[in-house]
Amino acid sequence: MANSQKLVVNGGRRLEGELRVHGAKNSALPLLAASVLAHGECVFHNCPALTDVDAACRILSCLGCRCSRSGDTVCVEAANVCGSEIPDGLMREMRSSIVFLGAVLGRTGRCRLTFPGGCELGARPIDLHLAALREMGAVISEEHGWLECTAPGGLKGARIALSFPSVGATENVMLAAACANGTTEIQNAAREPEIIDLAEFLNKCGAKISGAGGSVIAIEGVKRLEPAEHSVIPDRIVTGTYLCCAAATRGELILTRCEPAHIVGFLPVLEAMGCRVYPYGAGKLYISCTRRLTAPPTIRTMPYPGFPTDIQAIFMALCTICDGTSVFVENIFDNRYRHVPELIRLGASIKVEGRVAVVQGVPRLSGAKVCAGELRGGAALVTAALAAEGTSEISGTGFIDRGYESIETALRSVGADISRR
Ligand code: UD1
Repeated sequence: MANSQKLVVNGGRRLEGELRVHGAKNSALPLLAASVLAHGECVFHNCPALTDVDAACRILSCLGCRCSRSGDTVCVEAANVCGSEIPDGLMREMRSSIVFLGAVLGRTGRCRLTFPGGCELGARPIDLHLAALREMGAVISEEHGWLECTAPGGLKGARIALSFPSVGATENVMLAAACANGTTEIQNAAREPEIIDLAEFLNKCGAKISGAGGSVIAIEGVKRLEPAEHSVIPDRIVTGTYLCCAAATRGELILTRCEPAHIVGFLPVLEAMGCRVYPYGAGKLYISCTRRLTAPPTIRTMPYPGFPTDIQAIFMALCTICDGTSVFVENIFDNRYRHVPELIRLGASIKVEGRVAVVQGVPRLSGAKVCAGELRGGAALVTAALAAEGTSEISGTGFIDRGYESIETALRSVGADISRR
């Protein structure tokens, strides 16, 4: 992810205008993995142009699929899946490569891959993924960092009770179960909108999945999946990021091509802080913020529909310039405060004790040189820099590009002074 580019932000400009939200990274990745199961060419619209999506396309190529992009449409031809190995470099590049495991195993009966790299958010084990696949008949051995997975008697339906509603494990089981022999039931399944999107796509392909969006998902295995055309849902975390950028600059934005129903976990928080924010016609959101915000009630990250861990850093950036004291409790990941020292460089007052961060609002932030250490933390630094007095330089832009399509172009179009050097 290292590159030498920087985002240079001259803060203090009010954001105003209309901004389109791109498709969800966290939907696009499992959807691209799912295309491995379809015997033919799948077409995905609203597929964001992100480095993580490029990495998923490179994995598909390694497996023998043909991938092409035209604008925001990506086509995946998976008629001849001939590979079942995901190179170590690609596993390290993107942790979510693990979601290919269920699909490749389902299609080819075999998958060889390394443990997903990086520990940017603390330990991110895959024990739930592996235990579930083993219950479905997979034989998995681990040697020298490689996972060798086979399904000698074919994958078979099972009752899987997840001890935590893991998004990736739920997706992997859905993918492995789509063409398994018999019915799989996932209990304590993740309920994120991306799970519903994956189920809807798989069902278009001929899968028989019910209950997605609830805690129990049933997947009746079918013989074979056919290709389908699908539009990726809007990115709810990008939606939240732009809302926070508007709030941080006391701006007024209309976001288009977004899904207000997917942001129930944090929309009330923005309202409690003093923003006016409401749906504005189909797929649109309006936000305006005319005064200094006040600290929200304690923010606790939770699985969907609770407050998303992915937007925690960005709200923290906003809280640094609120009236009063804000408290964050990070319940999903154990090392998700890496943005804190960088926000402090910008003048924020934050104390961290384990899972809890306490933010004392300051009158203003001031521009500084800061470094993004991971994707959403990087977006938090952009949010803070937009509000800060003076110039900020944000390095580590490679992380931000994993989840935001040219963030500088988007923000510049609504009045920010931000450029890439
Ligand atoms: C997905 C999202 C990520 C988001 C996260 C939580 C994608 C590509 N990524 O990640 O942006 O932050 O959901 O909303 O969709 N865990 C285990 N064992 C496992 C699996 C998970 O202990 O086998 C733990 C993790 O360490 C973490 C928690 O469960 O503490 C949540 O992880 P999970 O829901 O699996 O997140 P991801 O699917 O990795």
